[in-house]
Parts: sequence; structure tokens; C-alpha cells
Amino acid sequence: MTEPMTDEPFRTIIEPFRIHSVEPMRLTSRAERAAALAAAGYNLFELPAQDVLIDLLTDSGTGAMSAEQWAAVQRGNEAYAGSPSFQRFRTAVTDLFPFRHILPTHQGRAAEKILFTVTGGAGRVIPNNTHFDTTRANIEFTGAQAVDLPVPEGLQPSLRHPFKGNMDVAALHGLLAERADVVPLVMLTVTNNSGGGQPVSMANIRAVREVCDRYGKPLFLDACRFAENAWFIKTGEPGYGDVPVADIVREMAALADGMTMSAKKDPLANIGGWLAVNDDRLAEQCRSLEILTEGFPTYGGLAGRDLEAIAQGLSECTDDDYLRYRVRSIAYLGEALESSRVPVVVPFGGHAVFIDARALLAHLDPLRYPGQVLACALYEQGGVRACEIGTVMFGLRPDGTEAPAAMDLVRLAVPRRTYTQSHIDYVIEVVTRVAGRAAQLPGLRIVYQPRQLRHFTARFEPLR
Ligand SMILES: Cc1ncc(COP(=O)(O)O)c(C=O)c1O
Repeated sequence: MTEPMTDEPFRTIIEPFRIHSVEPMRLTSRAERAAALAAAGYNLFELPAQDVLIDLLTDSGTGAMSAEQWAAVQRGNEAYAGSPSFQRFRTAVTDLFPFRHILPTHQGRAAEKILFTVTGGAGRVIPNNTHFDTTRANIEFTGAQAVDLPVPEGLQPSLRHPFKGNMDVAALHGLLAERADVVPLVMLTVTNNSGGGQPVSMANIRAVREVCDRYGKPLFLDACRFAENAWFIKTGEPGYGDVPVADIVREMAALADGMTMSAKKDPLANIGGWLAVNDDRLAEQCRSLEILTEGFPTYGGLAGRDLEAIAQGLSECTDDDYLRYRVRSIAYLGEALESSRVPVVVPFGGHAVFIDARALLAHLDPLRYPGQVLACALYEQGGVRACEIGTVMFGLRPDGTEAPAAMDLVRLAVPRRTYTQSHIDYVIEVVTRVAGRAAQLPGLRIVYQPRQLRHFTARFEPLR
């Protein structure tokens, strides 16, 4: 007789939470959105958020906190020094990342600013698989050079490779063989945000570590999306299928000498970050700077309640059910776009789907900003806000000249635990409709830009 019940898993992967409180969204007309876009100088960072329907600008700080995190907020202790909230924060951080010194910061870029103020400077070179924009800007601000060394597969949007975020180990070796004296440290960004949200394998982290050891260089992780990266290792790298995510994270940490962190990503908080280092002397220098710019090292620019939210978030983000849902929901969006013939970066990363705007808007020169054009069209058509990751973000060099970025991508970054499947179905419909008319979209020209991080405040005009 056959059993009436079975343990066979269901195909549908559900959101592993129920909604606890809601935030209404405002529907707008296309005419209203066109006017808002013009008023914003065709820069989506300048839009009032209430004019946006589905906000996929970033997954940073935009996630929904859990009931337990809100409860933890109530436990926040606001002592200037030695707060128990800091102790809980430090315990939660070191449980996953057992570095000797943990310096809380108000967000990831503050950790970068402190680290590179101490280790950067004119003539120095800092390699990374791919520097995120704030990391690059913080390095260049000190006069140092930020060098990207992604594996060649990472630069081919349509090529499938399980770990496209990896660093080109031979290129790192080559750089250090020639110029080790000017390299203060090596960084690895997990997952590789600017390179398409792609994961880095444990084998690659280990290989980078070996090269660092050979030249006596410390390795730092830019670990904003460590849990998503660990999930990809668990599900895609031989030998890790049965290893708990938290242990994979500990193994990643054990290969590094320190980290910068934005708690606004995987730790499921709305604000926060930290800098962690093993080296006592470096920690002392960083701590002195932290007091100048962030605050006393047991709060580092955060309220005690923020430290509590991060500590609780860290225990939630390594949960298998959450990570399975998280990574699957990104793939759901990506697969739907791919099957509608929208050119997307494959395989799908952990926090976002990246559209290859250079391929989709092949009629536009990269210096007409196809990524920015596409992002504006998604907003005007459906109120969906996305982010250009391409020539606007990376094309302006420190000497003021301009060159096309390696890729022109549009990132649909999905906030954690915030949108439902029907929201994502709507996004799929908007993107597909815009993609069908992409060849008619005119380019943009810049009418104002600052010298650094221009994508946040530049203003554009459509070329008619
Ligand atoms: C890879 C990476 N590093 C650093 C940062 C900077 O973190 P924050 O926004 O908290 O300053 C980000 C933010 O998006 C990021 O994605």
C-alpha cells in the first residue's frame, strides 16, 4: 500500500514569514512620473521616494526588520561607553567573524574611510575582485589607486560560471610580483556587487590567501553579503552541501585578517556597519580615527538600539529557509526576464538581477549612458526605480577624463523580506514592456556633475 503522505518537497518556495505591519504605496500616472523624472534631472537618486512604486534602487538598509529585531530595539542601551548593546553586538559579530578588534561604524563606507585613511595614500595600490563605488572613492580620496582584478568570466554578462565573483589570482600574483611594496592590503568583495552580485568560491578565497601569504599582505573582506555568498558556496561548491551556513561564514573569516562591513545588507538592519581587524597596531590607529569621525568605539556612530537590531539580524540571516527563499526569489525574477529575452547577467547573483543595458540599447554609445537611459525608462513606464551600474557610476576618472565602464548594467536590487511575489511579477511586466521598446529610447547627456561619485548628484538631459 502506498503512503497517503510524502516528504517530497513542494516546488513553490514561499516567503518564510508572514506580514506583521504594512506600509502603503502610492500609485502615480505616467505623466506624473515623467514630470518627476524631468524635475530630478533624470537622476533617480533625486526622486522623492513616495513617487516610486517598487523601489529596487538598492538592497541597502531597505529590508524589513523582524518582530524580534523590533523587540531588540526596545532593549537598546544608550550608555556612551560600555553599553550592553555593544557587548551583544560584538558577541554576535565575533560568533561569525572571530576577529580580535570590532569597531562599529554608522555604515560600511565609514569603515572604508577609516581603513584607507590609515593604509592608503599617494602611490599605494589596493587590489580587489571589484571595488564597490564607495570603496573605490575612499581609496582614491587618499591618493591611492584602486585596482579591479575580476576573473575574465566575470566580465562576460551572458557566460554561465558558478563563481563569477572570483578574483583573478594570477593577475593578483602578477601585481604583487611587480609592486608588492606599494600594496598595503588585498580586498575581496563577497558577493561581488559591482560585478553582478556574483559569489566568490571558498577555493578562490583560499587561493587569494595563499598569494597574500607569499607576499606578507593582509587580506580584508568587504563582506556586506557574506550570508548570500555562503549560501552559494553551500549549494554550488563541492564539499559544502552539508556544512551549516554559519560554519561556512566562519571558514571565510578565518582566511582573512579583517573586514569592512555594511550591516544594511545581509545583517538585515536599516543602518550600521563595522570594521574588524586582527592586527593590534592597525586597530589602535583605526580606533583613534574612529573617535574623531564616528564616536566612542563602543557605539561608533550608532545608537545602542541599532547595535541590538544588527545583533539579532545576524542570527536570522544565516537561516537556511531564509537564504533559500532569498536566493530563489532573485532567480525567479531573473529567469522570467531571461525567458522574455531581456539580456541579463547570468547566473543570477544573491541580491539583484542585472540587466545588460549595453546589449539591450545597442544603438547607444556607452557615453550616451544606456544604463541610465534604461533605468529612467523603467521608472517612467512603471514607477520601478533601479540603479545604473556602468559608465555613469564608473566612467569618470580621477583626472577628469571619461571612458566607458567595463559594462553598462542596470541593477534591480531586491530589498530583503520587503516585496511579495506579485510585486516581482509586476516588475517583470514593466521590464519586459520597456525592453520591447528599448531601441527607440534616446541617449542622455550630462549637464552637471561633481568630480567624485557623480552618479549620486549628476543631472542629465535627453538627446532628442
Ligand atoms: C560591496 C559593498 N561595499 C560597500 C558598500 C558600502 O556600504 P554602505 O552603503 O553601508 O556605506 C556597499 C553598499 O552598497 C556595497 O555593496
